[in-house]
Amino acid sequence: MNKSVSPPGTRKLYIETYGCQMNVSDSEVVVSIMQENGIGSTPDIDKADIILVNTCSIRENAEQRIWGRLDVFRQIKKKRPEVLVGIIGCMAERLKEKLLEKEKLIDIVTGPDSYRELPALIVEAEAGRQAINVLLSREETYADISPLRLDRNGVSAFVSIMRGCNNFCSYCVVPLTRGKERSRNPGSILGETDELAEKGYREVTLLGQNVNSYRWKKENGPGTFGFAELLAEIAVKHPEMRLRFATSHPKDLSNELLHTIAGHSNICKHIHLPVQSGSSRILKLMNRKYTREQYLERVSAIREIIPGCSVSTDIIAGFCSETDHDHLQTLSLMKEAEYDFAYMFKYSERPDTPAAKKLNDDVPEEVKSKRLTEIIELQGRLSARSKEADPGKTFEVLVEGTSKKSAGELSGRTSQNKVVVFPGRGYKPGDYLNVKITRFTPATLIGVPVKSTDL
Ligand code: SAH
Ligand code: SF4
Ligand code: F3S
Repeated sequence: MNKSVSPPGTRKLYIETYGCQMNVSDSEVVVSIMQENGIGSTPDIDKADIILVNTCSIRENAEQRIWGRLDVFRQIKKKRPEVLVGIIGCMAERLKEKLLEKEKLIDIVTGPDSYRELPALIVEAEAGRQAINVLLSREETYADISPLRLDRNGVSAFVSIMRGCNNFCSYCVVPLTRGKERSRNPGSILGETDELAEKGYREVTLLGQNVNSYRWKKENGPGTFGFAELLAEIAVKHPEMRLRFATSHPKDLSNELLHTIAGHSNICKHIHLPVQSGSSRILKLMNRKYTREQYLERVSAIREIIPGCSVSTDIIAGFCSETDHDHLQTLSLMKEAEYDFAYMFKYSERPDTPAAKKLNDDVPEEVKSKRLTEIIELQGRLSARSKEADPGKTFEVLVEGTSKKSAGELSGRTSQNKVVVFPGRGYKPGDYLNVKITRFTPATLIGVPVKSTDL
């Protein structure tokens, strides 16, 4: 018997998203697939007939957070037993049937390559059967699906250009949860960016686990179409739109790409280049495929080819067998690279990864914590230094919205990805303007708009 409370066409989906930008982008694909199948969405969980949680498995605490959320859904289901709860994304892929066995609350489990199956799985679940599809695909890129934007500002959007990862960094669960790397047809990427430009979007972030290995076989002639060409083509087609991208793997960051960034004013002067560790010995154990020296050489190339480019990174503290000496090398590399910004984590062993199988998670928790604190403190000083040079300078800022802290002020970002707050009478989200920086706080630059004649 069909247990659906609302007649088809009036059912509503509530979706919650955890994890990386790729997951945000995937949720937009999911909402679009549901819409096509007559299921609308609601931001109000109490009005939802279907609750989906798009999950992340990158570290243990990411999963713990989601287990915690399930308690809230349990309360909702107590009051309204007809509500369906689905776990989708990386945790669904990692835990598969175990989720259904462990949690009677869960009706649907769907991995990142099976979102087209969601409407059918919902029908199954409505018939009272737990529904699961966690098949990974070598082809799926959701190229033909036009994502339904969940952002509120209408200025910045994500566009996935590839899925999966073939790098198998030894600590990382992503190759297991997202499968083999595959690039998306450039025609469909250009179609999506055209559509965004028409709707008035002013910034697009191209997404992939390693965008530098984007590759598409040319249809008319020999050879392949790479990331630098894709970026240049979009930049030329949409001069009014800013382009960003994430993430670049240091082993594949080519000079060709750096010259492309330098050559187009609308490609943002910011590169996120995760280093993970400053010790070549640890990098080898992590299977990162570069040494400390090779990494620093790439940072020098960025500084040389793109003057004024900001560089950010990801760092893991306390990886297997990391000594005080290895840790000091991370700190010294951070100083050499002079990062503008960093995401910093304690190593968290993930089941079934190469590191979990072959290496010992032997750095004691308190040592991991101490090293992470030192890394965070150092980055605090480096981030402050990166802003110290900005007062007196004028930057082009794209307005994104109103400032969270001070009413009446607007906030936006520079090409270098630094947040700027300024009094913004007469400007609205989506506008570009020049802002002269007057001072800064730990997180933001503060400035005043200047007319181009004042420059
Ligand atoms: N594909 C991107 C991002 C991967 S996940 C890249 O290669 O850079 C984002 C970050 O999470 C990684 O860069 C890494 O710093 C961190 N991370 C991944 N697995 C982790 C683990 N097991 N423990 C702690 N941090 C981890
Ligand atoms: Fe994980 Fe490495 Fe792939 Fe990034 S490149 S997703 S860290 S395996
Ligand atoms: Fe992203 Fe987390 Fe999956 S970082 S790719 S959602 S494990």
